[in-house]
Amino acid sequence: MEKARILADILGRVRDGEDPAKIRQESRQLLTTLRLSDISKAHKYLLGSGLSLEQFRSLVYAFASILGDQFALLRANLSPNHPIRKVLAEHEMFECFLADLNEANLDLQDTQGLTDLSSEFRNLAHIAGHLQSLDIHDQREDDLIFPVLAGYPCGSICAVLQRAHGRIKNMVGNLTMTINNFNRFEPEQFKIQINAISCAIVPIVREHIFQEDNILYPVALDVIGDDKVWRRVKQLSDDMGYCGFDSQPCCCT
Ligand SMILES: [Fe+2]
Ligand SMILES: [Fe+2]
Repeated sequence: MEKARILADILGRVRDGEDPAKIRQESRQLLTTLRLSDISKAHKYLLGSGLSLEQFRSLVYAFASILGDQFALLRANLSPNHPIRKVLAEHEMFECFLADLNEANLDLQDTQGLTDLSSEFRNLAHIAGHLQSLDIHDQREDDLIFPVLAGYPCGSICAVLQRAHGRIKNMVGNLTMTINNFNRFEPEQFKIQINAISCAIVPIVREHIFQEDNILYPVALDVIGDDKVWRRVKQLSDDMGYCGFDSQPCCCT
């Protein structure tokens, strides 16, 4: 049987609740011969069997626990000027911003007599400003990177991740709007609102980054061997600069 089909069966077992560590032990020989492109094909088979977005999410973790070493190896071998290295670096910065948001929210919840001059409020507003660059980053993926990848076996993974971008945009927009309208809230009401938004944004964006770092980009790097494709992506993304780190906004110029 084709390796991708066997992998789809294995992942189906993980989906049905079997312990990934036990399955990995049993399937050790197959797993050492897998290529990341097999994951992409297996994902297609699973989509064909009615895999939902929720199930895909949980399988992503199973993929990583089964194939973690391959992912790490692929990433370590990226050249310093590869366009995907820039994407991964931005993901790392976003991880920092998310940790900051988490902390700023906790500090805010403990603040007595909160006003828009409180350091806790100003810190939160500063971090929310950084998080706005998430939208620019996601837009670059939607407009420049995913269309290039769409013609390859990783295209179905792009489609799932692209849907999450809209949800992330709404949540970050909601955070910004709430902060900008601080004076329309009672302080306690403001805290409740910020807590709800932060508790939603942090895990969802972390998970999204995890899926791109550990599934989409490693698979894309594996299935697209044509350097011309990556040169094209690099040229387009160089025009946009670094999201959130350039003095000028990096999109739409
Ligand atoms: Fe994304
Ligand atoms: Fe991304």
